[in-house]
Amino acid sequence: MKDNNNNNKSKPHESAVGHVTGKAIYTDDQRLPHGMLYLWPVLSPYAKAKLLKIDSSNLDNILGFVTILTANDIKGNNNTGTIKHDEVLLPADEINYWGQPVVWVVAETENAAQKAAETIKIDYEVLTPILTIKDAIKNNSVHADKNIMRRGNITNVLQESEFILTGEIEISGQDHFYLETQVSWVIPNMEDHYQVYASTQHPSETQAIISEVLSIPRNQIVVTCLRMGGGFGGKETQANPTAAIAALAAQKTGRPARVRLKRDQDMITTGKRHPFLCQYQVGFNSEGQLLALDIDLYSDGGWSADLSFPILQRAMFHLDNCYYIPNLEIRGQVVKTNKVSNTAFRGFGGPQGMVIIEEIIDRIARQLGLPAELVRERNFYHGEAETNTTHYGQEIFDNRILRVWEEVKLKSNFAQRKIEIAQFNQNNNYQKRGLAITSVKFGISFTKTEYNQGGALILIYLDGSIQLNHGGTEMGQGLQTKMLQVASQSLGVNIERFRIMPTSTDKVPNTSATAASSGSDLNGQAIKNACKILKKRLSKVAAKLLNLDEPQELIFDQDWIYCQTYPSQKIEFNQVVKQAYNQRVSLSTTGYYRTPNIYYDPKIGKGRPFYYYAYGAAVSEVEIDGLTGTFKLRQVDIVHDVGESLNPLIDIGQIEGGFVQGMGWLTMEELIWDELGKLKTFAPSTYKIPTIKEVPKNFQVHLLQRAAQDGVIYGSKAVGEPPFMLAISVREAIKEAIAAFGKTDSVFLASPATPEAILNAIEQVQLKLVDS
Ligand code: MTE
Ligand code: HPA
Ligand code: MOS
Repeated sequence: MKDNNNNNKSKPHESAVGHVTGKAIYTDDQRLPHGMLYLWPVLSPYAKAKLLKIDSSNLDNILGFVTILTANDIKGNNNTGTIKHDEVLLPADEINYWGQPVVWVVAETENAAQKAAETIKIDYEVLTPILTIKDAIKNNSVHADKNIMRRGNITNVLQESEFILTGEIEISGQDHFYLETQVSWVIPNMEDHYQVYASTQHPSETQAIISEVLSIPRNQIVVTCLRMGGGFGGKETQANPTAAIAALAAQKTGRPARVRLKRDQDMITTGKRHPFLCQYQVGFNSEGQLLALDIDLYSDGGWSADLSFPILQRAMFHLDNCYYIPNLEIRGQVVKTNKVSNTAFRGFGGPQGMVIIEEIIDRIARQLGLPAELVRERNFYHGEAETNTTHYGQEIFDNRILRVWEEVKLKSNFAQRKIEIAQFNQNNNYQKRGLAITSVKFGISFTKTEYNQGGALILIYLDGSIQLNHGGTEMGQGLQTKMLQVASQSLGVNIERFRIMPTSTDKVPNTSATAASSGSDLNGQAIKNACKILKKRLSKVAAKLLNLDEPQELIFDQDWIYCQTYPSQKIEFNQVVKQAYNQRVSLSTTGYYRTPNIYYDPKIGKGRPFYYYAYGAAVSEVEIDGLTGTFKLRQVDIVHDVGESLNPLIDIGQIEGGFVQGMGWLTMEELIWDELGKLKTFAPSTYKIPTIKEVPKNFQVHLLQRAAQDGVIYGSKAVGEPPFMLAISVREAIKEAIAAFGKTDSVFLASPATPEAILNAIEQVQLKLVDS
């Protein structure tokens, strides 16, 4: 790890010590009230069925049993769907996926709830499920019509292209595997108010869904999230059903109630990264230049729509990655299957779009016998106007693709190592190495324009201590640390003065999800705005105390308030606070921010959906064992653009973590459903995520220097998601190594690149050697 930002901004995560000592408190560790009830679900044993009868007649004999929750208990809307209202909370007649919760048992203890759940008998009429994207296409099982983006003229240019390739790419899903599973508990009071504690990335939406389900106004409900043990997109919408069930139990019984999913229940019932299928035809010239690309893109939405439409749309926005594609048509569709409802996951469709274009470019390079990095370079966005404008009409005003690319090539010694690896491969029959470089351009902003707003609330107390509230949630990404830094810098006071408050809907209302990597951008600006308001008020008071009549010239710095022209004229922050109170000047304020200058018209597929782009490039080197199909990641070099970093330590952590999570997705995490639609990989024993052992020993992360971004909080850039996609370099490096086992003109590697997939691919390139 390298911190090449030489300053004091590298503050450790504000909960770092708490994380490693176990003292950091999560939703389920908070002091639970007396008389808390526990819930346990009854899960459907079929992927598709009619629900005929629920027999709960024997439950009263079970010690501690209180009641059950079924569709009949819902006073409001039996629906948690946020975009398309198609997601029942409790099924009334139809079962839509294996493991769907049908009934929840409420009891005095978790054991009693589980025991009662096992006693419930349910009759079903079993139906035939739709389980794959191809199956869904055949049966026209879809969530909506196709979404189309196009530029130029596909048909003519394809016909006239020197070369054409046709193919198919399948991309697998990924479980979030946050360490803290979905959890919520709710305290009702006699006046029909509900205090909800939930591990949610979107407290305001959790509040809204509970309000719908319980049929009470939102102001009766307070949703609070202290911190999450990871979210990764998996708690953007899918925290809502858990909290809604706990609230429903509280409403029915009038007692506090708690839902905490066991790991297997979480993996069985919650949505994952969307698997994608892509069928394409690409036209190119002998230089490897892309001329026209025609694509059908399908994502597996699962049983309900959830966030599938914006996720598919982000995949379509990122299908170009860093490449100018003059003629392009993408037809995207979300198909409906009898599986969990797939949802947001770091990158939000971007990774799938980028894997597709990188795969296509690799196939072109192999077909032409050109180095993949050369074909990549030849297709980069460049210049001005047309060749630097995306297919959705956004000009890339601050194009840093070549900068990160050239820098990582140099830093990794790419050219020299490529020669060394070729030599190594010549001399070794069973081990082969591969080296690859890929880059990332990721659009920052919610594509749902109205989400691009943030709010803050700052309260200064008379002893000079301060409470800081904002709309974002902490999930390990270090948002709170950064927000404390922004507040301290903006108000010019010591960071120790602040207590960061749990995110709560009674402090900042109508907040957006903490997602799209924009937590710091939106909430940071709102905090800065609040500080500006407070400074203006305090300036007037301070100016009087300093006998000055120009308050706007005052500087707030490190707990002192100065006069700019006569710096010896200064006064302590605390003194000004006390005097402000005495003069009846308010010491609290809200702050607000909305991202300017973004718009998008989905009808024509054009606009400027992103405020800016984040860039990065990575070089990965792998070694494959041809006998076992396993690989080792030998070295990774990254140059990533975080603008002027708010906190280099945290940003480097985000880059490392995102990269390793992306590598897990592409190389080892395998979700397997059987022919009846049962998920077979619902535990860490069968679902392998990367461990410290998979982290490359030689892992160099460099932040792009002199990279301040105009108009973003203190020149910084969003960092949460973009580095995830740098892991595509690992997949490409694996293909390079596979190619070295045989004939190199094509390598078809399934995703994820498990040992089995790698062995299959090796066999194919070796067979071609025999054939030719
Ligand atoms: N980092 C940690 N440690 N845990 C997480 O759950 N979520 C990622 C990313 N980094 C996540 C994380 C996702 S999906 C997003 S969108 C961003 O953090 C959200 O936080 P931000 O907007 O504050 O960057
Ligand atoms: N990213 C993440 N979450 C979202 C988005 C997005 O672009 N749009 C709506 N929810
Ligand atoms: Mo992140 S997938 O936008 O929560």
